Amino acid sequence: MSTSAKRTYFNELALRWDEMPQPPGASERVAAFCRRACPSEARWVLDVGSGTGVLVAPLLERLGPEARLVELDFAPAMLRHAASKTTDARLLAVCADALAMPFPPGLFDAVLCFGILPHLGPAPQALSLLWGAVAPSGVLAVGHLMGSRELNARHRSFGGPIGEDLLPEAAEVAGLLLELGAVAVEAEDSTGGYFVRAAKGTR
Ligand SMILES: C[S@@+](CC[C@H](N)C(=O)[O-])C[C@H]1O[C@@H](n2cnc3c(N)ncnc32)[C@H](O)[C@@H]1O
Repeated sequence: MSTSAKRTYFNELALRWDEMPQPPGASERVAAFCRRACPSEARWVLDVGSGTGVLVAPLLERLGPEARLVELDFAPAMLRHAASKTTDARLLAVCADALAMPFPPGLFDAVLCFGILPHLGPAPQALSLLWGAVAPSGVLAVGHLMGSRELNARHRSFGGPIGEDLLPEAAEVAGLLLELGAVAVEAEDSTGGYFVRAAKGTR
């Protein structure tokens, strides 16, 4: 499915996104993802496919005053909705396609992919590109509030531009990150949620 069809799809969803049904305990689990995924000392953090900014509050609470949190999304309506929620000066909103990474390689201490990886096409290429944005001692984390099996069934049932956007099992993503040079990888994938975290260095 073309990038522009997906962008239109997500633009149209932006105003309804925060009201869409969520699994139980979603906000606490989002906060738990941020605590687990993102080192509190991170200076540059990239929230890939940031949507309406569900990670923003827990990340800003965690990060220091000098940190910069880049909210990257290709759907302007998602970014506008996110911008209406906070004026924190640490936040930078960037409207761009994550597959045409608009940042220099190795900039980010943490690259966070929450609810986005299946939308980025084949995982080997997407992970390789995102891994390139991670700093030498940085981390990359992938999270979802459900496991790959449940998520893929959900996307198939939605059909349309995201019907074929499928998330590989966490073990497969972990294997791809190890091939890219990750030194420490955690992976969990169950009905309770999906979490992969890979470090480039020893952080
Ligand atoms: C399923 S939503 C998740 C949003 C947010 N992370 C959350 O969990 O609520 C996926 C988001 O990724 C964005 N997105 C999808 N493909 C993208 C791409 N290639 N580049 C940048 N953003 C993208 C969409 O516009 C949408 O906001």
